Amino acid sequence: MRILFKNIKELLQVRDKNVSFVSGEAMKTLPTIKNAFLVVEDGLISDFGIMENCPQEDFSEVINVAGKMMLPSWCDSHTHLVYAGNRESEFVDKIKGLSYQEIAEKGGGILNSAKTLQETTEDALYEQSKTRLEAVMRMGTGAIEIKTGYGLTLESELKMLRVIKRLKQNYPIPIKATFLGAHAVPSEFKNNKHGYVRHLIKNMLPEIAQSNLADYIDVFCEKDYFSVEDMKHILHAGKQYGLKPKIHVNQFHSIGGVKVGVDFNALSVDHLEEMTEADIQSLKNTKTMPVALPGCSFFLGIPYTPARKMIDAGLPLALATDYNPGSSPSGNMNFVISTACIKMKLSPEEAINAATINGAYAMGLETQVGTITKGKLANLIVTKPINSYGFLPYSFGESQVERVYIKGQEFTF
Ligand code: NIG
Ligand code: FE
Repeated sequence: MRILFKNIKELLQVRDKNVSFVSGEAMKTLPTIKNAFLVVEDGLISDFGIMENCPQEDFSEVINVAGKMMLPSWCDSHTHLVYAGNRESEFVDKIKGLSYQEIAEKGGGILNSAKTLQETTEDALYEQSKTRLEAVMRMGTGAIEIKTGYGLTLESELKMLRVIKRLKQNYPIPIKATFLGAHAVPSEFKNNKHGYVRHLIKNMLPEIAQSNLADYIDVFCEKDYFSVEDMKHILHAGKQYGLKPKIHVNQFHSIGGVKVGVDFNALSVDHLEEMTEADIQSLKNTKTMPVALPGCSFFLGIPYTPARKMIDAGLPLALATDYNPGSSPSGNMNFVISTACIKMKLSPEEAINAATINGAYAMGLETQVGTITKGKLANLIVTKPINSYGFLPYSFGESQVERVYIKGQEFTF
């Protein structure tokens, strides 16, 4: 099965296979080939170049994409896409002026979603989640990470992990699962957070590890949720089972979680709306990817991650949606890219790098997706006819994604 895409107006994000992420100045460059061809063989990118060198032999399929651009599909490295129900009533409370914390104190927030999820059957949870997954794939997402954290009991956390496994089995894109048992203190442990942390480490984690359903471990490290000390205990325990951290830090307060994440060799530290100079310094020359979630800042009306400052300081940056019912009920990477340019002052090149190659790295998928590289999965976006790739973030709220190819096959759900 050999498929040829020809007359590509511009092929974006063309990279050598040993570039695993880009940081600082290098984020300003988006390597492209104008007037290009691309060949897919058995689901992988097997060749590409300028049209003058386009191979002439017979192909199973030839797709003429004249006037359109092609790029690797979006890599969304931080989502909570498996959840039950929605929280639009809290949305109204928020409009009336209540803060995220006040809504949580009123019985809303993560515990509200946990209650709904516990009462939802595994099949119903799968149905809701698959609808969301198909929707984000149609918008161009071709690799995704999904967290647990709305179960908060061993049984319900495993239910979430099994739903993620079913999504992995039934959809052709790479999916990574992250265990976020430390998302909130469940009501059964009200006023006994340490009891929950102990229970998580002693009873939940061994079973989660045993199930082999989680790729990473996460903690919501935040005032009124889990302290830096709690996180250290949990990450230490996770390490015994070979679970690498990808953590929620600095969403509302900078309390030292970034440095601890780096010390634990976290694959990524995510949110970072509140960053001190020391937090920025602690990420320098490390293998930990900072991840910004502008959809969350937009929805909650909290500060945006100081991405400009971070990239100017030489750091890499990935962008993700944080798709969840409480702080970012959207999995639209096109909107995230626009918001990163408009609100965080990233250039289109920086935003596209952050949403592809760096997002792939933040999921440990950099050898499979995120760039146009021979041997990587042919998970590709074909844009509508556009003049320049700057039009992608410019036309906010409107997707320029015309077609999505997963392993070279058009995705048409
Ligand atoms: O990443 N901050 C923690 N977790 C989610 C929100 C969860 C929720 O409100 O349901 C986030 O923003
Ligand atoms: Fe999140």
